[in-house]
Amino acid sequence: MRIAVHGASGFTGSLIVTELVRRGLTPVLVGRDADRLHRVAERAGRPDAEVRVAALDDIDALATAFADTDVVINAAGPFTLWGEPVVRAAITAGRPYLDTTGEPAYLHKILSTYDEPAKRAGVAVVPAVTDDGVPGDLIAALTAAHLHAPIQEVVIADLRRPGAASRGTGRSMAAIMVLDQVEYRDRAWQSVRLPDTTLTEPGEPDPVPVSALALPGVYTIPRHVETPHVRGVIRGEAAALFASLTAEVAETLPEIPDSDVLAASKWLMLAEATAVDGRRARGWVTGFDPYGSTAVIAVEAARRLATDGAPAGTLAPAQAFDPASFLDHLATTGVKWQVEELPARN
Ligand SMILES: NC(=O)c1ccc[n+]([C@@H]2O[C@H](COP(=O)([O-])OP(=O)(O)OC[C@H]3O[C@@H](n4cnc5c(N)ncnc54)[C@H](OP(=O)(O)O)[C@@H]3O)[C@@H](O)[C@H]2O)c1
Repeated sequence: MRIAVHGASGFTGSLIVTELVRRGLTPVLVGRDADRLHRVAERAGRPDAEVRVAALDDIDALATAFADTDVVINAAGPFTLWGEPVVRAAITAGRPYLDTTGEPAYLHKILSTYDEPAKRAGVAVVPAVTDDGVPGDLIAALTAAHLHAPIQEVVIADLRRPGAASRGTGRSMAAIMVLDQVEYRDRAWQSVRLPDTTLTEPGEPDPVPVSALALPGVYTIPRHVETPHVRGVIRGEAAALFASLTAEVAETLPEIPDSDVLAASKWLMLAEATAVDGRRARGWVTGFDPYGSTAVIAVEAARRLATDGAPAGTLAPAQAFDPASFLDHLATTGVKWQVEELPARN
C-alpha cells in the first residue's frame, strides 16, 4: 500500500512517515524541498523511499505526484494558507485525502466547499485526522448513541493540560486565536455566546474551568449526531496560554519539541451528551504523546480508507470509520476509552 505524505519534511509529516514504515506500508514523500524529504526518508530507515517534488501553485504536478498512490495524507500547515491546493490535487487525482488540521475556518471550508467535487470524483475527503479531531468525533458519536434518544446538546472538550507544542502548531494556533470562537447553536455555526463554565475530568474530584474553543468536533459532530447544539471547550489554563500566542511568539517555539516531554504528555478528549429528556452520558478517550498519536491515527485512517473504502464526499471521522472499531485499534497502542451514564439533569 503506497501512501503519499505531503509535508513529509515537517515534524508531524516525518512522524507519519516513520509510522508508515513501522506498519509495513510504503511512504511516498511529497513536498517542495527534495533534500529535506530525503533526510526524513533516511531517518525513517527507508533511504530508498520515493521522493516527489511538487509546488503548491502547480496542482497538476501535485496530482501527478499523488496519482499512483492509494491515499494522500497532508501534514503541511498552516492549512488555512497551504491546505486547499492539496485537497484540489487529491480530488483531481481521484485519491482519498486526509489531513492533520486543527484550524476551524479551514476545516469548515473544506467540509462545506469540497463535498460536491469529492462526490463527483468518487473520493473521500477526511480533514482533522489528529489526536483531538478523530478521538473527539468518534467518542461523541458513541456517547450520543449510548442514550438512544434525541440529543439536546453535545459538549466536546479537550482537557489536556498545556504541554509542549511544535512551531507548526504554534503558527496554526496563532492564526486561530485572532478569529471569533464559534459554536453550533440552533443548528447553525455562530459566534460563541455562552459564558465560560466548568467540567469534571474522569477520576478527578473537582471540576476545572473551561473556555470555548472551536474544536474540530464543533464542525464534524453535527454531521452525524442529530442535535441542535454542539459546543467545544478547552481547559481555562490552556485557553489563557493560547490567547497569549501571537505569530511572533509562535516563531520562538522549537521546530521539534522535546521528545521526553512529549512522551509524558497526556491528552484527553471528553464528550458529554444530554438527551431531550435530561438523561446524560459521558465518553472519554485518553492517551500520551499527542504528535505520536496523531501519526498513529493518520496512518490507521489512511490504511482503512485504502482497505475498506469510505463514502465519497467530505466526511467527519465517524462517517468514514466505525467509531468503536477505530478506538479499539488505538487501544492496542495504549489509548483508553469509555462511555458511561451520568446522573440525569432535571
Ligand atoms: N491536534 C492537532 O490539531 C494537530 C496535531 C499535529 C499537527 N497538527 C498540524 O499539522 C501542521 C504541521 O505541524 P508541524 O508541527 O509538523 O509543522 P512543521 O514542522 O512546520 O511542518 C510544516 C510542513 O509544511 C510544509 N510547508 C510549509 N509551507 C509550505 C509551502 N508554502 N509549500 C509547501 N510546503 C510547505 C513544510 O515544508 P518545508 O519542510 O519545505 O518547509 C513542512 O513539511 C500544523 O498545521 C499543525 O497545527 C495539528
